[in-house]
Amino acid sequence: MKGHFISFEGPDGAGKTSVLKALVGQLQPLLGERLVVTREPGGDPLSEQLRRVLFDDRNKGMDDRTEALLFAAARRQHVVSVLEPSLAAGKIIFSDRYVDSSVAYQGGGRQLGEQAVWDINAFATQGVMPELTLYFDVPSEVGIRRIAQHRQNQVNRLDREALSFHHRVRHAYLRLLDQYPERIKKIDATQPLDKVIADAKQLLNRVEPGLFDSH
Ligand code: TMP
Repeated sequence: MKGHFISFEGPDGAGKTSVLKALVGQLQPLLGERLVVTREPGGDPLSEQLRRVLFDDRNKGMDDRTEALLFAAARRQHVVSVLEPSLAAGKIIFSDRYVDSSVAYQGGGRQLGEQAVWDINAFATQGVMPELTLYFDVPSEVGIRRIAQHRQNQVNRLDREALSFHHRVRHAYLRLLDQYPERIKKIDATQPLDKVIADAKQLLNRVEPGLFDSH
């Protein structure tokens, strides 16, 4: 069986995690252990420790390059301990965020430069890339409003950035979409959740025909 690596991307408040949960709820009973659901930063004990460091409010003074390197370090560990072995075993991986998040948030949002961020991540990933990326698109104002309404107890250090930061993140995502039209597919995340889920299923069926056909 061939392995598949699919990443889920989008600005904060796009609702990708809710969509992911709905898809996993339907697929898990069918696929069992073949479905690997993971996230970044995280997905592995060491990467989850780095996640806590990255989002801790006590680390407000973290330098932007330090932040980019920590995301890349967490990614490296995730690649080696989860992604590569799962792909080799023919599993289907759904990852809540991957390298495009660093290009959009650190490259665009923090203005470190998209190429510089690609470069450190090339070292981290050694070419491990998703075959499909579902990009959940939402205007920054809508995303921020959703976070304020629904996630009050889980707002992290990055969610609290200014609107201009979130605008830069979204525009960096839209540039990625232009650059990699074959890999990255855009889903309008302002639609009702049912429609967003239906769009995601349609795209996932292309990766492995029949994945959702009976549902
Ligand atoms: P989430 O788990 O709610 O998606 O939050 C993850 C946060 O981390 C989100 O604000 C995006 C940010 N992030 C980066 O800035 N760079 C990265 O490389 C990754 C994976 C996430």
